[in-house]
Amino acid sequence: MTTSSFTVMTPADLPISVGTPLDGPSKTVISDQINAHGFVVFRDYGISTAQDFHDFIEAFDLPNFTYTESFSNAVRHNRTSRVFTANEAPPEVEIFLHHEMAQTLTFPGQLFFFCEKPAETGGATPICRSDHALLALTAIRPEFVAKLRALGVRYRNSMPIDADVASGQGRSWKDTLNVSNAEQAETRLTELGYSFRWLNDGGLSVQTPALMAVDEFGRGKDVFFNQIVAAAASWANADDDPEPRLCFGDHSRIETADLEAAIDVSYENTIDIEWQKGDIALLDNLKVMHGRRSFEGTRSVLAALCSPIARPALGL
Ligand SMILES: [Fe+2]
Repeated sequence: MTTSSFTVMTPADLPISVGTPLDGPSKTVISDQINAHGFVVFRDYGISTAQDFHDFIEAFDLPNFTYTESFSNAVRHNRTSRVFTANEAPPEVEIFLHHEMAQTLTFPGQLFFFCEKPAETGGATPICRSDHALLALTAIRPEFVAKLRALGVRYRNSMPIDADVASGQGRSWKDTLNVSNAEQAETRLTELGYSFRWLNDGGLSVQTPALMAVDEFGRGKDVFFNQIVAAAASWANADDDPEPRLCFGDHSRIETADLEAAIDVSYENTIDIEWQKGDIALLDNLKVMHGRRSFEGTRSVLAALCSPIARPALGL
């Protein structure tokens, strides 16, 4: 079944036997949809638990990318070795569009979401065609995009000493860095090329090395591969950490009007997945951004990351 802008696949379109690897023709059917839209939704496959979801993913034969090894700044909880809760931020908090972990040196090639329970109201997952957003931004802000291409971007965020579940990026520094004390944290960050500064409350302000903000990943079509929209729209400053969350790779300032334009064009190129219980979505993280609309009531969407891709920092 094809909606106006993406495909919802059912067992009538493509039978998938949980526990049986997908065959070549089935993989082609799916990759055709991913190539066309950047994502696909699977509906009515009888998936109701985290373990069902885990087993469904196994059929795709994609390498796992665990939350523990990721540099994600969101608070999450593992349900199986592949499956964890999506961002635990409270219902009223909007998660703005982003490519998963594009603000880090290692990010997933694909991600899956599974709707264990839809919200009473709201809670859709917006999906943005990042290549389309980039074209639109280039048309209205060519100098901004040229500078991003040349210099990349640096991200700064504050990691709390303890997990802050009220924040969309509240993962503690010990958990994010997978360390047990401050000395180990400093060693890890130095190895990765991050700069850092300790905050008065025991938190840590970290800044990434210069990371690419536009890339085509060998596919011949550039995407707006970064975390600029989410960082500009929602990353908050801690009390004693006033520096901008974003700057160009050479530390120069990014104009607010440019950031606002990036947010606008991204949402203008977005469609929403309105979840039904049991739905699974497969996203190409190198092609589409995603987020989370605010909601009312309770909502459970689980996530799984696949195919870690490491990329070096820009040598700036
Ligand atoms: Fe995400």
